[in-house]
Amino acid sequence: MLRAALIIVFLLTGFAVCHAGDAAKGEDVAIEHCRRCHVIPGQNNMGIGISPSFKAMIQSRAEDWRHKFEVFYALRPHPSFVIIREFRTRPEFPLGITPVIIAVDDLDHLMAYVDKLAQEFRK
Ligand code: HEC
Repeated sequence: MLRAALIIVFLLTGFAVCHAGDAAKGEDVAIEHCRRCHVIPGQNNMGIGISPSFKAMIQSRAEDWRHKFEVFYALRPHPSFVIIREFRTRPEFPLGITPVIIAVDDLDHLMAYVDKLAQEFRK
């Protein structure tokens, strides 16, 4: 009985650890993949055209600002060039630009980074 309980605790904490994003890794993902278009705090001063800065998006008054980060790959323009490895998503259009190829874990890391920025920007 005790052993079963220990296994359950192990599985639960293991699961939590696997799914807890790492903000530092998330920043690396943002630098590698999002900086091409978006302004990332402390990284670049100019983005591309209408791409909003991370700071502006995080400070948004819209209630769903965080959700937009969670599903950014499904929001235009990203479906045209983002590939999530495990989801086997495909770009909607033949690519004229280098695709953003990221893993599901990277999404967790990204959210940890976004939450860290939110602590600073949404006081
Ligand atoms: C090739 C350029 C490009 C890259 C690379 C890119 N984005 Fe974007 N992103 C845009 C543009 C342009 C918009 C504005 C779309 C609009 O306002 O209609 C946008 C909007 C967003 C939005 C708000 C979406 C909405 O509907 O309000 C989020 C969140 C976002 N991007 C996250 C990311 C993240 C995270 C990455 C990196 C993993 C990333 N983007 C990489 C161009 C890019």
